[in-house]
Amino acid sequence: MNNFSYYNATKIHFGKDQIARINEEIPHDARVLITYGGGSIKTNGVFEQVVAALNGRTIFEFGGIEPNPHLETLSKAVDLARNKQVTHVLAVGGGSVIDGSKFIAAGALYPNDLWEIIETNGKYITQALPLGCVLTLAATGSEMNKGASITRAETKDKLFFGSVHVFPKFSILDPTTTYSLPVRQVGNGVIDAFAHVVEQYITYPINAPIQDRIAEGLLITLIEEGPKALQNPLDYDVRANLMLAATIALNGTLAMGVPTDWASHMIGLELTGLYGLDHAQTLAILIPAVWYFKKEQKKAKLLQYGERVWGLVDGNDEDRAVAAIEKTRSFFIQMGLPTKLCDYGLDHSVIPTILAKLEQHGLTKLGEYKDITPADVKNILELAL
Ligand code: NZQ
Ligand code: ZN
Repeated sequence: MNNFSYYNATKIHFGKDQIARINEEIPHDARVLITYGGGSIKTNGVFEQVVAALNGRTIFEFGGIEPNPHLETLSKAVDLARNKQVTHVLAVGGGSVIDGSKFIAAGALYPNDLWEIIETNGKYITQALPLGCVLTLAATGSEMNKGASITRAETKDKLFFGSVHVFPKFSILDPTTTYSLPVRQVGNGVIDAFAHVVEQYITYPINAPIQDRIAEGLLITLIEEGPKALQNPLDYDVRANLMLAATIALNGTLAMGVPTDWASHMIGLELTGLYGLDHAQTLAILIPAVWYFKKEQKKAKLLQYGERVWGLVDGNDEDRAVAAIEKTRSFFIQMGLPTKLCDYGLDHSVIPTILAKLEQHGLTKLGEYKDITPADVKNILELAL
């Protein structure tokens, strides 16, 4: 196992009726900016619960944070936070609202141009307003990590920044808030969480059985529970299992002491930035393609995954590695996410544009061996046509 340091600063309140605990977490004299997206929280009862829990505090609202949140939108929220002397940010929504709120929390106290936060991956953030979250979509893990993905719409740059200062101070995970999710977002959430697990697991063996078995437990849970959430949207236990799985998938636990391969995520962020595909859709396209391209280097873990997660024991190594990839593809499709570029109206003509963006962002050495070059990405994308 590799050396590692682990830190996570987020307190979790999990379960039914936990939104009321905001009252314990935010001081009574706080000036709170409630941030949210396109309005789902105003029709599913979540907003009312949040406002009730904030009883007595001075409240401001900033709605309209779009999926794949835009720097242009978030800058307006930063202005509001500064003008109203906001002391706390409370994000109510999915990964986009939480990511955007991390940017607002840091941006409100940032002395330089806000684009610098993103351009420098958050390196120069030294402080942020305290952030709380009410999660309404199990997917990204943003509710318990220090990362955020922000898009500058004007230039189609979708980049990731991170800072310990933007760890949420607390996050409320009430699975009932996810009952109202559209089918497409249920599928997206399951596949995003699945991708986070496999990108920290399908690399090479490093004698880390604890991390491996946590990963396998999460994957089996997502495979078992994901389809149930599509069939029975109001099943509390299913929603609870998915919510906890998605949070653990990207709260740092799985990355302890193991190699990670974020190639699918890095290429996928460019696809979303350029062509607007949902984040999880890009992962459904890229994961099978990256695995085929790197099948020899990843074979030991693909075989372990195939056997322990999918019960694949018949056939030679090559057959079982291919079967593991194809089982994964079938699961993505079962969750409503096609796995080819053409399924989303894209063809070979997009490849040079994607490569140029990766080069512009300095993402020219990807994967657990840092050996995936732009020329390799071209081959990977051709496998996904
Ligand atoms: O905006 P509203 O009206 O709330 O509707 C949202 C949005 O349209 C809707 N939704 C959310 N909760 C709902 C609901 N609709 C009904 N009922 C509910 N309970 O779902 C739509 C998508 O929401 P979004 O927040 O965009 O989805 P998701 O949670 O998948 O977040 C995706 C974003 O997170 C980033 C992605 O790049 C993307 O920008 N990621 C963040 C990560 C992190 N911070 O660690 C890691 C991930 O890999 C990912 O990159
Ligand atoms: Zn993701």
